Amino acid sequence: MCGIVGYIGDKQAAEFLLDGLSKLEYRGYDSAGIAVYDGAKIRVEKSVGRLAALRDKIGSNMPKGTLGIGHTRWATHGRPSDRNAHPHTDCSGDFVIVHNGIIENYLALKEDLIEKGHDFKSETDTEVVAHLLEEVYNGDFVSSIREVLRRIEGSYSLVFMSRKHPDMLVCTKQDNPLVIGIGEGENFIASDIPAIISRTRRTYILNDGELAVVKKDSIQITNREGEAVTKKVFEVNWNAEAAEKGGYEHFMLKEIHEQPKAVRDTMSQRIAKDGKRIVMDELKWDADYLNSFNKIYIVACGTAYHAGLVGKFYIEKMARVLVEVDVASEFRYRNPIVDENTLLIVVSQSGETSDTLAALKESKRLGAKTLAITNVVGSSIAREADQVLYTWAGPEIAVASTKAYTTQLILFFMLSLYMAQIRGTQSPERVEALISRLKEIPAQVSETLSDVEPIKTFAKQYGFNEDVFYIGRALDYEVALEGALKLKEVSYIHAEAYAAGELKHGTLALIIEGVPVIALATQKSVYEKTLSNIKEVKARDAVVIGLAAAGDTELSKYVDHVITVPQTDELLIPLLTVVPLQLLAYYAAITRGCDVDKPRNLAKSVTVE
Ligand code: M6R
Repeated sequence: MCGIVGYIGDKQAAEFLLDGLSKLEYRGYDSAGIAVYDGAKIRVEKSVGRLAALRDKIGSNMPKGTLGIGHTRWATHGRPSDRNAHPHTDCSGDFVIVHNGIIENYLALKEDLIEKGHDFKSETDTEVVAHLLEEVYNGDFVSSIREVLRRIEGSYSLVFMSRKHPDMLVCTKQDNPLVIGIGEGENFIASDIPAIISRTRRTYILNDGELAVVKKDSIQITNREGEAVTKKVFEVNWNAEAAEKGGYEHFMLKEIHEQPKAVRDTMSQRIAKDGKRIVMDELKWDADYLNSFNKIYIVACGTAYHAGLVGKFYIEKMARVLVEVDVASEFRYRNPIVDENTLLIVVSQSGETSDTLAALKESKRLGAKTLAITNVVGSSIAREADQVLYTWAGPEIAVASTKAYTTQLILFFMLSLYMAQIRGTQSPERVEALISRLKEIPAQVSETLSDVEPIKTFAKQYGFNEDVFYIGRALDYEVALEGALKLKEVSYIHAEAYAAGELKHGTLALIIEGVPVIALATQKSVYEKTLSNIKEVKARDAVVIGLAAAGDTELSKYVDHVITVPQTDELLIPLLTVVPLQLLAYYAAITRGCDVDKPRNLAKSVTVE
């Protein structure tokens, strides 16, 4: 996955390109490059490493010109290096391209092009596109690009620039995102809105197969067949500050602190004015349908998958429907039993995760009805699904997902209540009581966030341990999984979560003196059993940090430290317990000097398989 940008207008392109790429580094940051047309030739500058390395390389010698493209890379084909960084050119240097995705048939194309005399400079799949364009070029830029598109297979968003056609950029997409920002006498292209939001809020979001010819004063969009497409302008309803750090040292910390607002925004409009019912007007299915399916699959990746595990718990408990949860990369390869009586719920912050999108398409093909829970309006997943529920979390930039998780939990909780209303599986009184606890959550998340000092201390104390274990039962186990993922991805500490009752089936062998164990103990029905498991690890001299609901006077007798969160219904407590775990991961990463917002080897949204 990578970030791409393009500019055409009257201003210096390089300024926008570098600024835009800085907003897209969450998509990849192992190398970066820009190409700018100076009126005679195209100057390409690239560098391995972060965008900062490219800026250093360019120094004060900025490429001059008002037409340009740029790229920030997350390597798939070819290791990170100057040579493999984009933009890529053909032999003549007349055609320059940037690409996000994978050209699956690149090897066959490359062999053929080498035989025809083309000289390749990189190990990437992308470079074939530039040479192929050179090979098929017929004097008409757009029709030649269409010929290239007919010959390549795979997923892509691509921007093409040519010295022979300096009045336009051409861009297209298939299974990877691309937006066009509409300016006055200038236009912008980017993988995602944060790159253009400081310039314009008016955008076109391209669909698969569409191709846009972007000039300084016009944008023409056509479909695969070359027919004109009339698109609605999509007005972005958040501002540039939302995509900035706003005084926080890192996006991750900012986004953790945005959770009270994010969960409030996600729940508001979905609670009836009298506070007695959930309303989901955006779901166009009637009650009969919501009563009819006999199975739900929840499919997602990473943190969104962890939210799905909590979702299963909610839906089974409240609406009494069988739910299976699967990671998207496994789901479609195991011939899942999906038919017209199945509801498939996909969860994805970005709405662009390739495996999740593929699972969605496959389930539709098998006849399932589909519902997306996503944060990005107009994303591929939002457009592909039959129905969408948006989390209103605002842009999430840090690679480590935080506010997306809590808002996904909110939506799952509300959806389970909504289904319960329709299916009559919970009394109106119970629904009303849960809604009133739900409304307290934003303030309780704020309260949890205010108690940060003990967490900073633990992070300093245990931040240099090699291993950390997380244990819990029922919903505490699902949150433990998310806590462990957060810690490993940002601090690189080896962290594992276990269902507490599973410890004695093997993992207990790893518990030795001084190993930190984070034990979540908020679920009343399994509280005593969790205490027994805590005693098991204490007996092996682990250091135990217990996580409990306020008012718990028991846990402190068995653990070394206790963190408490406000009291709420135990179904809702994951929204609170995850917060100290996010903070612990963040401060452990700080203690270890890690690059929190850009963890090694990771990218924000994984648009390759
Ligand atoms: O955009 P998505 O929610 O589909 O992304 C799914 C995962 O890639 C994502 O949650 C990933 O696990 C995060 N880095 C976790 O913090």
